Amino acid sequence: MSEQSGTNTETERGGTWSPESWRTRLAAQQVRYEDSGAVETAVHKLRELPPLVTSWEIERLRGFIADAQVGKRFLLQGGDCAETLADCRAEQITNKLKILLQMSLVLVHGLRKPVIRVGRLAGQYAKPRSSPSETREVDGKSVTLPSYFGDLVNRAAFDAESRRPDPHLMVRGYQHAAMTLNFIRSLLEGGFADVHHPEYWDLSFVEHADLPAARKTAYEQVSRSLAEAVEFMEALGEGRVEELTRVEFYTSHEALNLLYESAQTRRVPHREGWYDLTTHLPWIGERTRALDGAHVEYMRGIANPVGVKLGPTTDPAEAVALTEALNPGNDAGKLVLITRMGAGKVEGALPGIVRAVTDAGRRVLWVSDPMHGNGMVTASGVKTRHFDAIADELRKTCAVHREVGSVLGGVHFELTGEDVTECIGGGAGVTEQHLTRNYVSPCDPRLNYQQSLELAFILSDLLRNGSASRA
Ligand code: PEP
Ligand code: CO
Repeated sequence: MSEQSGTNTETERGGTWSPESWRTRLAAQQVRYEDSGAVETAVHKLRELPPLVTSWEIERLRGFIADAQVGKRFLLQGGDCAETLADCRAEQITNKLKILLQMSLVLVHGLRKPVIRVGRLAGQYAKPRSSPSETREVDGKSVTLPSYFGDLVNRAAFDAESRRPDPHLMVRGYQHAAMTLNFIRSLLEGGFADVHHPEYWDLSFVEHADLPAARKTAYEQVSRSLAEAVEFMEALGEGRVEELTRVEFYTSHEALNLLYESAQTRRVPHREGWYDLTTHLPWIGERTRALDGAHVEYMRGIANPVGVKLGPTTDPAEAVALTEALNPGNDAGKLVLITRMGAGKVEGALPGIVRAVTDAGRRVLWVSDPMHGNGMVTASGVKTRHFDAIADELRKTCAVHREVGSVLGGVHFELTGEDVTECIGGGAGVTEQHLTRNYVSPCDPRLNYQQSLELAFILSDLLRNGSASRA
């Protein structure tokens, strides 16, 4: 397929848009590269390279999101806070895929509706930071360096060379995203998600987990009925099983580095508009969603479905204005609003936002990110999140949507398939003392394998019954 660059296009509102028109706006969270020639070389290279995803896939996802907006599907989005180039390894990718597939199976079972699986991966390499610089004591001296902005921009090690923004990392990020995607596509194509492979549906961790008896029994029941469903499908015959269990997988990342995104933004033959072909579902972060800023300018012109994070300080009128700027035609499947309020703020902040968007008749998919409003720092200075706060935000968010009459159509988690100790709580009993045991994330703390699966069960209960025994 040939995907070409082209010239400017007129959008319904907001004047002339082009993949580069964001350059005329203020871009929050951008870094200064020392060598503008090297930036040009990297961007040129990215323009020449083939796209990572196709417009067909993007349009298909958009159709699924349209279904989710009216409660016919549910979106599960998850992955690392910051993906790293070093983690582009078979085991890590396989484990991430496995946990997302298992969670989706729990949700399909509980909700009796198809689940759209979207990884925060194959490009989740750029991170917004609360401060542009970081100061540490090194050999008794106070040293200040640029913050770590993700592997697409600079490196995490605390030395001047690592923290220097390096334009070539954009090309390296693209290459690692391509390798990640290639492996995922091969795994899925080769039957990784096939029900004949026990790693897809085996939830036997429950037998060994330290969980309350009632929840354990509930898990065992789900596990048994999943096994029965698989047997039943097998009895229907091979072809049918494959058809019923065909797994599709989509990618997403925060579209923070607009040089990277716009270099892969193209027109495609036989379709209208421009596509960001680095990912299926790019999103705008809480720190970069200014209405007149560069990120909204860039995202308003692309044909992909786009997400926007909304924190507790979001003014309801501003949320409506964002939906108008990003989806002027109020088209189905286009806009995903990802709310991340914090368990203590959901009930105060969310109803007004949901009501304003609903009353304005805006079509959106409401997604809950119960991670980013629940960060805390332990007395010894470790960034963590409590499982109970995460579950509590989910419970309160479900209640708000139920009250307003809107549809909570998805969730957004930071998670990993590894046995890390970054978030506190859950059945495995990770405590504050355990945090140093296997804390790997270079950015925000992630749910580990067991915590993720446990949350899928809680969520499934919440969406089905409006209550969950542990939440
Ligand atoms: C993130 O998703 O890692 C993130 C930085 O989130 P937010 O924009 O919601 O703060
Ligand atoms: Co994060």
